[in-house]
Amino acid sequence: MSKNNPQPIHLKDYRVPSFLIDKTDLHFELGDKATLVKSKLSLRRNPACTVANAALELNGDKSLNLRRLVIDGKDLSVGDYELSEELLRLADVPDYFTLECVTLINPQDNTSLEGLYQSNGMFCTQCEAEGFRKITYYLDRPDVMSVFTTTIVASKNRFPVLLSNGNPVDQGEVDNGRHWVTWEDPFPKPAYLFALVGGDLELVEDLFITASGRQIPLRLYVEKKDLNKCEHALDALKRSMRWDEEVYGREYDLDIFMIVAVDHFNMGAMENKGLNIFNSSCVLANPQTTTDDAFQRIEGIVAHEYFHNWSGNRVTCRDWFQLSLKEGFTVFRDSEFSADMGSRTVKRIEDVNVLRTAQFAEDAGPMAHPVRPASYIEISNFYTLTVYEKGAEVVRMIHRLLGKDLFRKGSDLYFDRYDGQAVTTDDFVAAMEEVSGQDLTQFRRWYSQAGTPRLDVTDEYDPANNCYRLTIEQSCAPSPGQPVKQPYHIPVAVGLLDEEGKDIPLTGGESTELLQLKEQSQTFTFENIPSKPVPSLLRGFSAPVKLCYNYSREDLVFLMSHDSDGFNRWEAGQKLSVDIIQGLIADYRAGREGVLDSLLVDAFRKVLSDRSLDQAMVAKVLLLPSEAYLGELAEEIDVEAIHNVREFVRKSLATQLQDLFMDCYRRNRSTGGYELNAEAVAQRRLQNLSLAYLMTLNTPAVLKLAQEQFQNADNMTDTLSALTQLANCEFVEERDSALDAFYQRWHDDSLVVNQWFSVQASAARDDALEQVQSLLEHSAFDFKNPNRVRALIGVFCNQNSVGFHRLDGKGYRFLSDQIIKLDAMNPQIASRLLTPLTRWKKYDSERKKLMTAELKRILDTKGLSKDSFEVASKSLG
Ligand code: TRP
Ligand code: ZN
Repeated sequence: MSKNNPQPIHLKDYRVPSFLIDKTDLHFELGDKATLVKSKLSLRRNPACTVANAALELNGDKSLNLRRLVIDGKDLSVGDYELSEELLRLADVPDYFTLECVTLINPQDNTSLEGLYQSNGMFCTQCEAEGFRKITYYLDRPDVMSVFTTTIVASKNRFPVLLSNGNPVDQGEVDNGRHWVTWEDPFPKPAYLFALVGGDLELVEDLFITASGRQIPLRLYVEKKDLNKCEHALDALKRSMRWDEEVYGREYDLDIFMIVAVDHFNMGAMENKGLNIFNSSCVLANPQTTTDDAFQRIEGIVAHEYFHNWSGNRVTCRDWFQLSLKEGFTVFRDSEFSADMGSRTVKRIEDVNVLRTAQFAEDAGPMAHPVRPASYIEISNFYTLTVYEKGAEVVRMIHRLLGKDLFRKGSDLYFDRYDGQAVTTDDFVAAMEEVSGQDLTQFRRWYSQAGTPRLDVTDEYDPANNCYRLTIEQSCAPSPGQPVKQPYHIPVAVGLLDEEGKDIPLTGGESTELLQLKEQSQTFTFENIPSKPVPSLLRGFSAPVKLCYNYSREDLVFLMSHDSDGFNRWEAGQKLSVDIIQGLIADYRAGREGVLDSLLVDAFRKVLSDRSLDQAMVAKVLLLPSEAYLGELAEEIDVEAIHNVREFVRKSLATQLQDLFMDCYRRNRSTGGYELNAEAVAQRRLQNLSLAYLMTLNTPAVLKLAQEQFQNADNMTDTLSALTQLANCEFVEERDSALDAFYQRWHDDSLVVNQWFSVQASAARDDALEQVQSLLEHSAFDFKNPNRVRALIGVFCNQNSVGFHRLDGKGYRFLSDQIIKLDAMNPQIASRLLTPLTRWKKYDSERKKLMTAELKRILDTKGLSKDSFEVASKSLG
């Protein structure tokens, strides 16, 4: 490797900024060949900085073309400053001064989708984390907060809509058919929250009246083609605004709230102050084109970005190591919002599934890092499941330890005390300690230690003294840079079931007790327990840990029907399935014929027949653990064994419960008139999972069912479910004609075309890779659109295990080819695509060799980005 590898940045090296920027005046002239950016910054030395006469060092980028630099009205010449690729240094500046800076940039050629770029001809920005420096030289760090004024000049015809943060304060016309608009954002903010949009956009408007009676226009800007997909996001936004007032006492603060939908976007969405910018896939929806899952996802993301207005914008991060301060907290907030809007237990199951499959895998891999990382090479690589989802779990544990009321007191204190400031996760925890009097010193290890703790639980019952003891041992495997872990403070919610399945009253007559595990090993004693109970452990998944307790299969069946904790009822079913599948995998690998334990068939039969159960929960219980979760649980991942055994179990269940599945399908089949409520969603889920089970039977009769559903469905949930079944079936002609028909019907709708790519990318067929390769050549495929890249390449490599992990290594070679190509255009997307290769240690020796060879090839690429360098080099260890 070359000598000048990118160097890491460490939390321990944090220093306050040497300068502050009180005011930032920006002036943009948007053009086809270049965009002119003029900035006027009111700078002063930071009184908190102890470095005497520090130089002013502004962040920049090699794509900036510096045209002019002026201090207090005096032009500087080349000798007055030092300019390198990423830094503009002024050694000798006054204590207070105005710096004017003129740069030329080329948004039309910016494929990184960071900074100012174009999407379908519209100008837009993405500045988090460090994109603002691609617009102009600046102190591009979150602890420098400034009041922004932005003027945008552009052709009135082509860019009638010109937006930035805050409120519009002035506008006018100039020469050559150009017009201008000036925006003012009164709230000081870091540069990462800056946004600008210029385009020919349509406006859909709504109104929200705040708790204190202020009328806030809500403006959703979209391309004309998307006008029929705006209602859902606006409704979700109004629900979010109301919820934040009711649950956190937080009102919206500006005079208007804007959302813009763009097709080219690296992530889901961005919380720019007053002007959220969304990936169109995360905001636009209607029943004809959008699945139920996507509807729910959109509601959650709209809420997430809105909630950032307080948790992120009014109170922001001191530095990027504190990213989870805003992301963990905001994910916790949006998750609670979704729980309140729908079924709390179902939402919990969905969150835990993501955490246990993807985040646990991250925690066990070479990129493992604490919720508050100690170092990074490229911060974009740390927008991770650990920072977001595990970070949310950490906040959830604080919520659990304090209880709802004290948590609210703590969040009030946090928002009031730190309003307008850039702070740390420690400040957040300290506010929670202050209101509750609880000592969270040990608890803070959740922020500093990486890896997933494991709890080994054993128990004993003492009939002579009516006494039950639980012994819990905690451990946490080493992770990069952290060979030894200190014990965590872990809240373990426990219930004890008597022989009839009733909760035995515990301390204070409660059915659930919150044990506080702090030692490496600790024994908890329960008195007055009349007979040996069945423990219900970690109720509601009260901590992000792996829990091991030696349940018998009969215990699990018992918990499945009796546990008063809905989450653990579902969890018992998952544990039962996992245990049975793992047994069958052992049989498969030993060449023994496996037989499906009738306990699982009986449990499924019961759930399918009991019409009194909550149908949304039934739809969750009837889903077997995913291949990804089974892989996460395995010591070494046997790709074929996991896939084949899971399919065998699905088929066995379908065969033995055929009539019940058919009945369930018929009973829940959509009858027209799409509705988006919990009951209707549960019905469609049951209908479509029944179809999926039945399709494993491979009969012409079931094929016909799928085809009919495909042809007659009036909503995308049913259409896409049927298409997925057809795309995976063995009837080749029917498969291909369905895929063709779908494309013919939907080729004009970019978001639906993404789904068409994904269905094919995830299809379990022998020629899946060849199919994906030929789709790269399809006229609708576009390397410059991250949604397309994710839909085809991402889905194939992450969700088509058998295809991607082909033993000839062609799946790996395919991915590294694409990564190398993409890295030059969009490093963030390239680096994210690397994830499946980083997991090489979990596979057999042959695959290990093949995967590491591709990682090396990527690492040897000339001009490789920091982003991909960090992931590839850390993966090779
Ligand atoms: N802050 C955004 C969120 O709500 C994340 C985000 C959007 C982002 N776009 C990005 C992060 C680009 C890094 C790069 O979670
Ligand atoms: Zn966020």
